[in-house]
Amino acid sequence: MAKPRILSGVRTTGDPHLGNYLGAIRNWVPMQDTHECFFMLADLHAIATPQAPAALTSQTRETAAAYIACGIDPAKSVIFPQSAVSMHSELAWILSCHTPLGWLSRMTQFKDKAGKNKEGALLGLYSYPVLMAADILGYHATHVPVGEDQKQHLELARDIAGAFNRAYGEDFFPLPEPLILGEATRVMSLRDGKKKMSKSDPSDYSRITLTDDADTIAKKIRKATSDSIEGVSYDSEQRPEVANLITIYAALADTSIDAVAAQYASAQTSRFKSDLADLAVEKLSPITAQMRALMDDSAYLDGILRQGAEKARAVATPIHQEVMKRVGFLQV
Ligand code: TYM
Repeated sequence: MAKPRILSGVRTTGDPHLGNYLGAIRNWVPMQDTHECFFMLADLHAIATPQAPAALTSQTRETAAAYIACGIDPAKSVIFPQSAVSMHSELAWILSCHTPLGWLSRMTQFKDKAGKNKEGALLGLYSYPVLMAADILGYHATHVPVGEDQKQHLELARDIAGAFNRAYGEDFFPLPEPLILGEATRVMSLRDGKKKMSKSDPSDYSRITLTDDADTIAKKIRKATSDSIEGVSYDSEQRPEVANLITIYAALADTSIDAVAAQYASAQTSRFKSDLADLAVEKLSPITAQMRALMDDSAYLDGILRQGAEKARAVATPIHQEVMKRVGFLQV
């Protein structure tokens, strides 16, 4: 029987951070044995917020290096830049002609990112979830492993697939299922436990990136905001920052939030932070070292991505052609 197909990706807007790792990339690794895997470098999505051209190129290689260093094996999975497969942009247009504005205006991520300046926000930022639907549907992917923040976009992708199927033939696009896995589905900022850890936060101390060295990781955890309540306990309402650190510990140690909270119940926050720093360094340093080595060999990385793009095109092209035929475009 054919393996179920998954597709996922990270925007190439900068160094991947601990949220990207624990919420997404790490969960992809075991799936490589059970699923047919497509992992793209979401560079088309990246430019929905302005990127300097040279930085975008190096961030794309860096994100590829992160995938491989985290355990994505190019011999098992297809790794490719999204922009190298033209289906993504073309299908996004077709799907956007089947997506009511009302569906898009419900997307909370747009509201968060556009902030108060809705008039000045870019059209690409608004229509971004339609491109995401094209990424997934254009490979007939059935499962999409992501962090919690992408759940609403996945629901929209299912709605868009349903609208297309109703117009052109039931069951053409499978309705993709989100896979939101592990203890750390929503890693929060180290400065503010009510805000998601994100690449766009102006404070470097709000996130741990996969290129941070050991000293930087330890310093960021030591300086992470906590509270003055005695002991270590998990309470996401009253103690969001400590709850976040417990969640990160549980995910890195491959254990449960309850087990970590029990282990440190009577410990001082400073000791807990110091143990967490040691654990984070132990788990992340090998990834950082391998990422650095890969970044020094851009010819190797580009070769992997070229081959990945070819494999991705081979799967996407026939689906794209079938879409064009169903819509009624004259085949010449
Ligand atoms: P992006 O680049 O914001 O994030 C990449 C992945 O990391 C997860 N993630 C988090 N998980 C836990 N805690 C956090 N603080 C955190 N921050 C990010 C995200 O949920 C995501 O899984 N639109 C997507 C990229 C994309 C995509 C796709 C994903 C484009 N097309 C198709 C899946 C399928 C995005 O902006 O992710």
